[in-house]
Amino acid sequence: MKQSIEVRDAISRMSPYKPPLENRDPEAFLLMDFNESPLPPPPGVIQKISEFLNSHVHIYPIYGDFLEKLGNYSSVPAENLLLTNGSDQAIDIIMRSLLENGEEAAMVQPGFQMYNQTAGTLGCKLNGPQFPADFHFPHQELKESVNTKTRLIVLINPNNPTGTSVSLEQIEDLLKSFPDIPVLVDEAYYEFTGETCVSLLSSYPNLIVIRTFSKALALPSLRLGYVIASPDFILELQKIRGPYDVNVVAVLAAREQLNNPEHWQKMVRHLMDESKPAIEKYFDEKQVRYFSSKANFMLVEPSDVQQACKFLMENKILVRPMRPPIDHTFRMSLRTMPEMQRFMDVFTRYLNS
Ligand SMILES: Cc1ncc(COP(=O)(O)O)c(C=O)c1O
Repeated sequence: MKQSIEVRDAISRMSPYKPPLENRDPEAFLLMDFNESPLPPPPGVIQKISEFLNSHVHIYPIYGDFLEKLGNYSSVPAENLLLTNGSDQAIDIIMRSLLENGEEAAMVQPGFQMYNQTAGTLGCKLNGPQFPADFHFPHQELKESVNTKTRLIVLINPNNPTGTSVSLEQIEDLLKSFPDIPVLVDEAYYEFTGETCVSLLSSYPNLIVIRTFSKALALPSLRLGYVIASPDFILELQKIRGPYDVNVVAVLAAREQLNNPEHWQKMVRHLMDESKPAIEKYFDEKQVRYFSSKANFMLVEPSDVQQACKFLMENKILVRPMRPPIDHTFRMSLRTMPEMQRFMDVFTRYLNS
């Protein structure tokens, strides 16, 4: 008798995607490792969730007019939208709809790990140039990496983890240069950058945009993302996503966040206008190299990254050490000013140690 269930070769070759979640206790640590919002949504959102939990959990999801609401927010009709269980699911179903075993997606490396993971499950590879040492976007090299096996081009804008931005002109150039290849633009950090390429959708049907409620909108544990694309492609994706994959509590909370944006918008302004300049000034003064981004995170290059991360952790601050080829850096998220001050105090002690 066989000892275990045999899975597809593509799967057995892979390792699980395991972000370092163990012991991430928000009571014990200052969490600067997952680009989350420093604060939960306001009490009104939590109130709505508990009212719902008291009376509706036994009924299958009813999403109501949420797509129209999201359409107003995203400046597209509802038929251009698909809700997903986090934008991770958007990445999964988009890649599953486009890539056959052995085909490729073009993406500059290193990028968000979920793309590599999903490609792996399909027996596909991400093929693309590495970011150069200064992390500028290697536009020409990416174009040159597109080949006869390429079925998708992925642009993460700004890129997690390098913070690299791609300009609207560069996105349009790729859409125009490869009209038969879908170009997926990941705008997970849209609310921080205020920049979007959605307006290009009317001219380029090969554009696909994905976004999330996990970052500025502060709902990562509820899992809500969405796809913005041509109505035809949305219909194809609907065949893959299950009809109830999206948690209705996430939609309820997201509706409240869209109806009352002041709270999260104020946090975005605080992080970008106060926390970001303060930490950049601090690193400049201390002559610590960092790579700025238009989003709520940055890469930092201390002289000894392992020692720095260890010192921070011993002092109850979690940042994200990066893997090769950027393992000389750690990624840190922006937090409120008092929390940034706590980081700076601890980091100064590290620099003086
Ligand atoms: C660029 C990018 N895309 C997608 C995601 C996935 O977010 P979620 O699945 O929580 O919507 C993240 C999360 O860190 C990200 O940084």
